[in-house]
Amino acid sequence: MVKLVVVGAGGLVGRRVVGILDQDPIPGVKLYLTGHSRSVGKQVEYRGQTLRIVPTDLKLLRKADIVLLCTPAETSAYLVHAVMGGPVIVDTSSAFRMEPGVPLVVPEVNGDKVFAHKGLICGPNCSTIQLVMTLYPIHEEFGLSRVHVTTYQSVSGAGYMAMNELERTSFDYITTGSSGHDEASVFPHPIAFNLIPQIDGFHDNGYTREEMKMVNETRKLLDIPDLPISCTCVRVPVFIGHSEACLVETREKPCVDAIRRKLARFPGVRVLDDPAGSLYPTPLMCQDTDEVYVGRLRRDLSSDHGVVYWVVADNLKRGAATNVCNILRALVRGEG
Ligand SMILES: NC(=O)c1ccc[n+]([C@@H]2O[C@H](COP(=O)([O-])OP(=O)(O)OC[C@H]3O[C@@H](n4cnc5c(N)ncnc54)[C@H](OP(=O)(O)O)[C@@H]3O)[C@@H](O)[C@H]2O)c1
Repeated sequence: MVKLVVVGAGGLVGRRVVGILDQDPIPGVKLYLTGHSRSVGKQVEYRGQTLRIVPTDLKLLRKADIVLLCTPAETSAYLVHAVMGGPVIVDTSSAFRMEPGVPLVVPEVNGDKVFAHKGLICGPNCSTIQLVMTLYPIHEEFGLSRVHVTTYQSVSGAGYMAMNELERTSFDYITTGSSGHDEASVFPHPIAFNLIPQIDGFHDNGYTREEMKMVNETRKLLDIPDLPISCTCVRVPVFIGHSEACLVETREKPCVDAIRRKLARFPGVRVLDDPAGSLYPTPLMCQDTDEVYVGRLRRDLSSDHGVVYWVVADNLKRGAATNVCNILRALVRGEG
């Protein structure tokens, strides 16, 4: 039996991981669930049994075969250092993604890297995963030369406190007219009925940490260290589902129909693109699904080498839980 411990099992991503494994278990895996404060003691139904979320005990983690961290970056950093050398660790956080020698993996794109690990494998940022799953097939066919992306990211990308804040402040705004924004806010401005062009803090270059994660992680995943990428990340008052408006320039002159066919054949990508019927993906449509959805595919009017499209995915599932579950399946099966 492979002992798998999911740490942060009561969080937004952790709960989706347990849900995915409940519906489609990995044969030969025994699941253990841990948490920190809010979720410890909670019971979770899993494959007809009741599992309890227990405190995160280093002894339990060291005895595991695989530890999946669905925890904030600081917690992941601490736990990786505390148990490294024992179990294989799969981390959803940003703590080690850009460390040289640590594989950053989207199995559909660079699944071979799963077996290049030295004890630690990272899953990318949610907004990076859905972008890369569309860039990679385009790169295979036409070669990428430049990427421009603007994101519209849901509040669940910032964890469960952020979802509570959108719910509470939307209610306050409708019932009292107040933004409900206070010092304890997750966001730097009111999020209800608003947009915030800042996700995470700023670097000296004027880009946010979220924007630079997308730039650096995309380059690492595609193994194109100098790919020009321009990125603006915006937080929007949507509960679940990140959307991205992409302008991609290619080395070969692109054919929009060929890109549409290539994307439709790529595992994990679905094309929803019928402008006449107002068919294109929206966050509500993609909620609770495991795929990346693409629509509004069209030629760029400003350059012969550009194609423009819209991409949406459930950030909690496709952008995190589904990806790490695919990594776990590959690890347990022993296939790259
Ligand atoms: N949300 C997304 O769309 C998304 C996408 C990709 C990657 N990620 C990454 O995935 C990780 C989890 O995100 P999330 O959205 O699930 O956050 P979340 O809803 O805030 O959940 C975080 C979980 O971590 C647990 N935790 C916190 N400190 C801990 C500690 N010291 N020991 C053990 N467990 C601890 C919490 O346990 P309690 O519940 O017991 O307090 C909670 O269940 C983050 O690193 C995030 O950046 C998130």
